[in-house]
Amino acid sequence: MKKMTILPTPPKPDPCCIAIFGASGDLAHRKLIPALYDLYYAHRLPEKFFIIGISRSEWNDTTFRKEVISILKSKPDKEKQKEFVSHLYYRVAHAGDPHTFGSLATEMNLLHENYGINGSTVYYLALPPSATGGTVRHLHENGLIHPSKEHGPWSRVVFEKPFGHDLASAKALDKEIHQFLSEDQIYRIDHYLGKETVQNILMFRFANSIFEPLWNRQFIDHVQIMTSEELGVEHRAGYYDKAGALRDMFQNHMFQLLTLCAMEPPVQFTADQYRDEKTKILRALKPIPKGKINDYVVRGQYGKGTVNGKPMPAYREEEGVNKKSNTETFVAMKLFIDNWRWQGVPFYLRSGKRLNTHATEITVQFKQIPHSMFPLLSPEDCAYNIICFRIQPDEGISLRFGAKQPGPEFKLASLNLDFDYKDVFHEPIMGPYERLLSDCIHGDQTLFVREDTVELSWQFITAILDAWKTNPPKQFPNYDSGSWGPQDANRLIEQDGRKWRTYAANYNAPTDSHGKKL
Ligand code: BG6
Repeated sequence: MKKMTILPTPPKPDPCCIAIFGASGDLAHRKLIPALYDLYYAHRLPEKFFIIGISRSEWNDTTFRKEVISILKSKPDKEKQKEFVSHLYYRVAHAGDPHTFGSLATEMNLLHENYGINGSTVYYLALPPSATGGTVRHLHENGLIHPSKEHGPWSRVVFEKPFGHDLASAKALDKEIHQFLSEDQIYRIDHYLGKETVQNILMFRFANSIFEPLWNRQFIDHVQIMTSEELGVEHRAGYYDKAGALRDMFQNHMFQLLTLCAMEPPVQFTADQYRDEKTKILRALKPIPKGKINDYVVRGQYGKGTVNGKPMPAYREEEGVNKKSNTETFVAMKLFIDNWRWQGVPFYLRSGKRLNTHATEITVQFKQIPHSMFPLLSPEDCAYNIICFRIQPDEGISLRFGAKQPGPEFKLASLNLDFDYKDVFHEPIMGPYERLLSDCIHGDQTLFVREDTVELSWQFITAILDAWKTNPPKQFPNYDSGSWGPQDANRLIEQDGRKWRTYAANYNAPTDSHGKKL
């Protein structure tokens, strides 16, 4: 396949400081520092910049720089790394001790002056939600937040998820931070929106003319969105055991994928028009009828089992997890969107930890043919057409269709037309944090989540959480590590005469019309 267009590299952004709160934490270590180095390496950071790491750990510039060098050990170009770390500083400050912000302000102002930067700053709050509101307040009180205006220094604040833990807390946090920041200064991050393959859903739908006419209730039978992880809770029990899969994956990533599949085309791809359309989908989500939650939502928790031949402990045996925990590590749900385009089309979503495979896919399944003229084949035998967005790890798109098996009879084979990123685009795919940090430095909010979107999403999720509260799970753990989740998840879709799509690593293998390899 031939590559057609190369988009221009964006212009160099304004000089600025990048201040990372939570700089000694896991997110900074695994994602933010590597992403900032990748941006530096690709000449995408401003000509003049410095990075200041901030947290409660008693580090200094030297310890921070050493730490960063060790984080970057698998990255290229040791000389560039030395250059990069010379832009790095570290100060101790945290919301628990407001006085620390006074000296932070003095030192940041000095650094701005030394670098010839006018005060413009990206604040990245890699902090637990309980600390974010206070941090913004102290930044404001110490003159570190510049009011939003067209010219002059700017301040942008990135909020990591979770943004609240239910509708009421998300609203309270919005109210609190809006005292000091306007919405155009608030960047609520969802790293799924920074993934190339997720952005491509829009290009695929709205930059081609052949798919969109079919993209509606007349031709589409249903849509499946799946995020399956082989990993378990890892070292995040402190957060995860209180959150669970519904808050951790659905309120944000899964619902964002849903909006991208279902939204109407905005007139122009601008931050607000695009986000308006996504919001309309969440507004149109059909509420789950009272008392019917189990017909629409299934929860699960992993027991012990085997993943890739390795024995795995049950969730309740993981380090830091309450031995009697009722936290869900798996959720499957059926949703409907109450609008003209999607009336009656089910969207089946499922996501879980310690499942059989690591993969994220969106599958759009078209309706079967209305009548079969082939004597050996009923309409049900004819392969359903499927478009599958392979978000990760095997990035690409597949189109499944039926073709004649060679031979004297009219027998059908089900085949794939495949596009694989790695075969076509040879440059490495930009990581989501790299992309989103770069957008924030450029002041582009398109791929960040707006206040109304977060709140609508919480509204739907909170109704489920409330229903669950009054009806605790009785059979946890209810799926084995390494399986595809609880049996009830199959019931959810099979009661509608449909099946979860079986994940097949080898997409090109032809099968018969029942999915058996030929
Ligand atoms: C995070 C969740 O937001 O997304 C994790 O907190 C989850 O629990 C992760 O594992 C999945 O992201 P990715 O990019 O690995 O699919």
